[in-house]
Amino acid sequence: MLNIFKKTPKNTNNKKNVVVVGGAGFIGSHLSLGLIKDGFNVHVIDNLVSGKKENIPKEAIFHLCDIRHLKDLRKTFKKIGSVECVFHLAAIPEIELSKENPFKTNETNVTGTEYVLGVSYEAKVKKVIFSSSCAVYGNQGNLPIKETAPLMPMNPYAFHKQIGELYCILYSQSCSLPTVSLRYFNVYGPNQPFKSAYSGAISIFLNQAKNKQPLTITGDGSQTRDFINVQDVVRANIAAMKSNLVGKGEVINIGSGKEYSINDIASIIGSEKKHVQERDEVKKSKADITKAKELLKWEPTITINDGLTELKKFNSL
Ligand SMILES: NC(=O)c1ccc[n+]([C@@H]2O[C@H](COP(=O)([O-])OP(=O)(O)OC[C@H]3O[C@@H](n4cnc5c(N)ncnc54)[C@H](O)[C@@H]3O)[C@@H](O)[C@H]2O)c1
Repeated sequence: MLNIFKKTPKNTNNKKNVVVVGGAGFIGSHLSLGLIKDGFNVHVIDNLVSGKKENIPKEAIFHLCDIRHLKDLRKTFKKIGSVECVFHLAAIPEIELSKENPFKTNETNVTGTEYVLGVSYEAKVKKVIFSSSCAVYGNQGNLPIKETAPLMPMNPYAFHKQIGELYCILYSQSCSLPTVSLRYFNVYGPNQPFKSAYSGAISIFLNQAKNKQPLTITGDGSQTRDFINVQDVVRANIAAMKSNLVGKGEVINIGSGKEYSINDIASIIGSEKKHVQERDEVKKSKADITKAKELLKWEPTITINDGLTELKKFNSL
């Protein structure tokens, strides 16, 4: 591969550089803040297609760049210089859009991911952490879901995540680029957009409660999800960067290890409810988090009750 990184720019302070690709988005902006607090020089790469500039912490260095454009990505990495870790969160995480326009979403979710890995390899990045998703599992009969479960992606988005994980393994095996894929379950927290495919129940319900509308429950509401607070996801990413036990393309579940029905969530938020047409979706979900405990020495710290109480306060409810 072309090496354009012969001369690396000097870092102006003694802090190590990390790059958060997709750092203007919901999880990426929380992660950027967590890394700043942990003493890193944070560079955010984002094209702002769904992320917002105001989400990016002011201490971070922002690079407006689209990961679908290899030349621009290379230039951006060259400008940054030596990098300790790349956190790759940029994606079009919209399941419906991925069904309507699989080519367009593939460009970011698959080609963009390959470019991030390729440029990280060229730049001699020490580790890449890829944000994957429990969507790769599809509908599983056996709960809790272990990483060894057969993958059954139900839509192009889920399939794109599976390919991203495989690219990570490929780069680790054939280029010795240390990588790890974190399979997030349903992440929730402040500033989550309520229109995204992942917003799922929690942010949609909070928005409805704020607007004094009934909470719309799809089907009978007995479908379950494993909800994980965004602060725990931030800690998992930082643990994955620091752990010497990962870097060979491992895939690791990041969830709470607990299962809540959509009816449970609506009851905790506590507002009028309305049942609407059921949709084609995963029926039950709960992560087995044994691997994260072993390899990352990580476990969730925020219960759903505490997390939702804080979110209600954040939303002035
Ligand atoms: N939120 C969840 O519950 C959840 C669950 C599982 C996996 N994930 C994954 O975690 C990651 C972050 O999710 P999120 O909820 O913060 O999503 P988000 O949409 O808020 O953030 C994605 C960011 O990527 C940026 N982006 C998109 N295309 C880009 C491109 N071509 N070039 C540069 N930047 C681009 C967007 O502008 C946005 O800032 C995604 O990869 C998503 O698939 C999220």
